[in-house]
Amino acid sequence: MTKTMLVTGGAGFIGSNFIRFVFEKTGFKGRIVNFDKLTYAGLRGNLSDIERRFGPKRYVFIKGDICNFKKVNAVIRKYDVSVIVNFAAETHVDRSIHGPREFIETNITGAFNLLECARANWKNRKDVRFHHISTDEVFGSLGKTGRFMETTPYDPRSPYSAAKASSDHLARAYFHTYGLPVTISNCSNNYGPYQHPEKLIPLALLKAVDGEPIPVYGDGGNTRDWLFVEDHCRAIWVILRRGRPGETYNVGGNCEKRNLETLRALFRALEKLKPSVKNQMLKGCRYEELITFVKDRAGHDRRYAIDSGKIKRELGWKPRFGFSEGLEATVAWYLAHGSRLKKTVAASYRAWLKKNYILR
Ligand SMILES: NC(=O)c1ccc[n+]([C@@H]2O[C@H](COP(=O)([O-])OP(=O)(O)OC[C@H]3O[C@@H](n4cnc5c(N)ncnc54)[C@H](O)[C@@H]3O)[C@@H](O)[C@H]2O)c1
Repeated sequence: MTKTMLVTGGAGFIGSNFIRFVFEKTGFKGRIVNFDKLTYAGLRGNLSDIERRFGPKRYVFIKGDICNFKKVNAVIRKYDVSVIVNFAAETHVDRSIHGPREFIETNITGAFNLLECARANWKNRKDVRFHHISTDEVFGSLGKTGRFMETTPYDPRSPYSAAKASSDHLARAYFHTYGLPVTISNCSNNYGPYQHPEKLIPLALLKAVDGEPIPVYGDGGNTRDWLFVEDHCRAIWVILRRGRPGETYNVGGNCEKRNLETLRALFRALEKLKPSVKNQMLKGCRYEELITFVKDRAGHDRRYAIDSGKIKRELGWKPRFGFSEGLEATVAWYLAHGSRLKKTVAASYRAWLKKNYILR
């Protein structure tokens, strides 16, 4: 691939992993324009090594809002963009409960705006692709059995998932109505390096290292399917190369865990690299003893499980990382980078947690 790819939200967790993955592991010869608003969740420094190695010829960072038609349009023209991968979104369910407006603006209006820009610039072009990144949360909550298929009816329950569902519908509509070559992926919970510490795994990890109480919603029995972020990046790459326009692909790790199981697996990985007995912040207790149950999240989906048979059958993708392997890589990364992260994001995050009852 020698094209120019516009990656929106590339300073966030999955977007920054994707850009690094493309440069380092795919043989990609083209240019990436990373277009990101740098909200509280985006850090340009997540890709400072890539910027040093590939910028400005093959990597360009532009600070901007996907809701700004003029600016996105100008970028597509200036760089002759022929692939758009849309990661940009507000992504934290808790934040969407306390303040849904930005979720509607970025996740719906922003996605619409990108689709409009692509439509305006790519008239009748066949050598282009718009890939929209979405979540399994659009399918709602499962009972004890069953898995989400690509054909499962949408049933979102939070402002976050409802906004993501809207953008999926818009993306699909642009394929059917205008023939825009759109693909969509709906992925399960990701974990790995560079994830914002408001999400379960890095939150628990950083708190465990500091010997602080680890908040767990409800009874800790909510179930999620986990995928190491690099496996997600490879799935997106495979869809860009071989996915069929108009199609949706479910992407999951076949790794269903209750939240308490997830935390126990995380603590096992942490014990290997930073044993609790040697961690003075714990004052003699074990990581597991830090678990503190808090009032459940409003409308908390009980269980997600995803069937990724289609991408496996049609495109030959399957996850390569086991859960403990991925967790150990994640723990190692946070042990090496946690203090930098804490400096950059922790102050605002702690204030937010306190304001919104999660930390008392
Ligand atoms: N994290 C997961 O487990 C997961 C699972 C499935 C799907 N997804 C989807 O993957 C995508 C990326 O998720 P993430 O976890 O990396 O999110 P993130 O919150 O870490 O990063 C989001 C990025 O988008 C940027 N952004 C936000 N609003 C913007 C705007 N208006 N214009 C331009 N940039 C903007 C932020 O600055 C940030 O860099 C999202 O679309 C999300 O719905 C995430």
